Amino acid sequence: MLRNVLLILSTACIDSHYIWQTISDDLSSTSLTFSEHAGSPGAHFFLSSLKDKLSIAQATADGSTIVPFLEKRDGATNGEFLATLPSSVNPPYALETACPYGIFTEAGPTALLQYYTSSPQITTPNDWFEIQDLLKNTFEVTLRDPYMSMTTKDVSSSVGLKEGLFEDECPSGENSVDGMACVVAVVRFNGELHSSAVNVTTFDESGETISTTECESVCIMKVPMSGAVFAAAQYKEMTPGTFDGTDYEYVDHWATTYTVVKRD
Ligand SMILES: *[C@@H]1O[C@H](CO)[C@@H](O)[C@H](O)[C@H]1NC(C)=O
Repeated sequence: MLRNVLLILSTACIDSHYIWQTISDDLSSTSLTFSEHAGSPGAHFFLSSLKDKLSIAQATADGSTIVPFLEKRDGATNGEFLATLPSSVNPPYALETACPYGIFTEAGPTALLQYYTSSPQITTPNDWFEIQDLLKNTFEVTLRDPYMSMTTKDVSSSVGLKEGLFEDECPSGENSVDGMACVVAVVRFNGELHSSAVNVTTFDESGETISTTECESVCIMKVPMSGAVFAAAQYKEMTPGTFDGTDYEYVDHWATTYTVVKRD
């Protein structure tokens, strides 16, 4: 039985499970799910296997706090983790979760699996300069809306970026196209812009895929003009190493993010 569960878990991980973090509209709580579907609770026993490995961190310029969480069952099989956020901490702040899962072997070469998710809270595009330095996950995707305050002119300097833009779904300088908002997806590794191509996929609030763009580090993506949006990216870092006495061939990084677009 245990072996079957482990096999299912292993296969499921490879089948693109991600950790998804959302935050309530009133910012009073945050939720974590582990699932193939953006923002939906997944099997309780997969989630439980992460419990002792993950930590939720909230950070402002004044310091970083680990946020305690509780497990909530959703029906017979599904579950999510819920955490209350302190009302004393106001945006902007970094909110992110890391889960250094460990060794994974069932589906071929031995890999070190790492999951990450974030839901940073920004009040103006300029906040990104400060907040991106407070995000500590090794691999990270964020969605940044340069036009959340409609005064923006220079996209890259308004979302904490000093470098240029690469693959885009919108023409440069357009704040919306075809009734969709143009936002910036930023992929970082070890706190720097990522330097090789990854696919970034966006999902709407019901978890439906919006689009996938091959993105080196920064790209503009089209998302609904208002409402929640998720993004996910996976990166295989082909660097071997040893974890808990086991050799692995590469590190498999899985990252997601969540934001709420408000253009209206
Ligand atoms: C992105 O996805 C496309 C289509 O599945 C694939 O051909 C391409 O190799 C992927 N790029 C990366 C960097 O994985």
